[in-house]
Amino acid sequence: MRTIVITGGTDGIGRGLALRRLAEGERVVVLGSDPAKGARLLQEAVRLGAGERAGFVQADLGSVARSRAVAAELAAAHPAVDALVLGAYRYNPARVRTAEGFEQTFALYVLSRHLLAEGLRGSLERAAGTPVILSLCGVGGIKAGTIRWDDLQREREPYRAGRVTMQGARANDLLGVSFAERHAGGRTRYVLYNPGFVATGMTQSLRRPMRGLTKAAAALFAQPVDRAVGPIAALLDRPPAGPLSAFFRGRPVGLDRPEFDRANAARLHAALLSLLGEPALE
Ligand SMILES: NC(=O)c1ccc[n+]([C@@H]2O[C@H](COP(=O)([O-])OP(=O)(O)OC[C@H]3O[C@@H](n4cnc5c(N)ncnc54)[C@H](OP(=O)(O)O)[C@@H]3O)[C@@H](O)[C@H]2O)c1
Repeated sequence: MRTIVITGGTDGIGRGLALRRLAEGERVVVLGSDPAKGARLLQEAVRLGAGERAGFVQADLGSVARSRAVAAELAAAHPAVDALVLGAYRYNPARVRTAEGFEQTFALYVLSRHLLAEGLRGSLERAAGTPVILSLCGVGGIKAGTIRWDDLQREREPYRAGRVTMQGARANDLLGVSFAERHAGGRTRYVLYNPGFVATGMTQSLRRPMRGLTKAAAALFAQPVDRAVGPIAALLDRPPAGPLSAFFRGRPVGLDRPEFDRANAARLHAALLSLLGEPALE
C-alpha cells in the first residue's frame, strides 16, 4: 500500500486528491490548520471504508517551527513515503506577520514547502516505487510575478496580496529547480504543477467585490476539482523520468524557460537557509 502525504489536503484540490487516493486503496495523511475540516475529511474517509488508511495532522504551516516539527513527526511515523503533495496555501488580503516574524504568505507558500520537502526526503527515498514531490503552484507560462531579491518578504513596500502570491509562485518553481539540482543523485522526482483555474473554496478569503467576481468567473471558467485531480493522480502514478518536470493542466512546460533559472534557484536556496538560520551545507 502506498503512502501519500498532502499538505492542504483538507480542502479544494488537495481534498479531492486525498479522497480519490483513499477510494483507490492508498494510505493518505492530510495536513491542514483547521481541525473541523480535518474531522470532516476523516468522516468522509470512514464513509468510503477507508477510515483506517486516513490520517489528519493539524498544523499551521505558516509556522516554521511547526513545519519543521511536523516534517520530523511524519518522517518518524512513515519510514517510507511514496508521494508528497504540497498544496497548502491561503490568500491573505492584508499583510499578516506570523508570531515568528515572517510574512505569512511567504512562510506558508515558500518556507514550509522547502522544510517539508527536505524533512521528508529520507522517507521518500525509501519508497518502493518511484517517489515524487508534486508542488501545486504557479508555473506554466504565467508572466506575472517577480522575486524581490532585496526584500523577499516585501516589507519595504505597501502590501499587495497578488504580488506576494505571484512571487510565491515564482519561488515555488525555484524550490523545485533547487531540490532537483542539490539531490541530483536521489530517486525522488519533483513535479511543478499548475492546475489552472479550479473551482475551490480559495475564493472565500478574497475581499468583496473580488470574492463575488471570482466566484462568478469560477462558475463560468473554472474546472471542477474532480476533473482537475485526474492528471495530478496520473503524474503520481507515473512520475516523469527526469528529476524535475513542470506542467500546466496536464500539459508539459519546457524547463528552458527563465522561471527555472538555476542560478536564481541557488540564490533563493541560500536566502532561505539564511532566513531559517540553517547552515549552508550544500
Ligand atoms: N484553485 C485554483 O484555481 C488554483 C490555481 C493555481 C494554483 N493553485 C494552487 O493549488 C493549491 C491548492 O489550491 P486550492 O484552490 O485547492 O486551495 P483551497 O481550496 O483554498 O485549500 C487550501 C488548503 O490549504 C490549507 N491551508 C491554508 N492555510 C494553511 C496553513 N496555515 N497551514 C496548513 N494548511 C493550510 C487549507 O486547510 P485549512 O483551511 O484547514 O488550513 C486547505 O486544505 C495552492 O497551492 C494553490 O496555489 C490553485
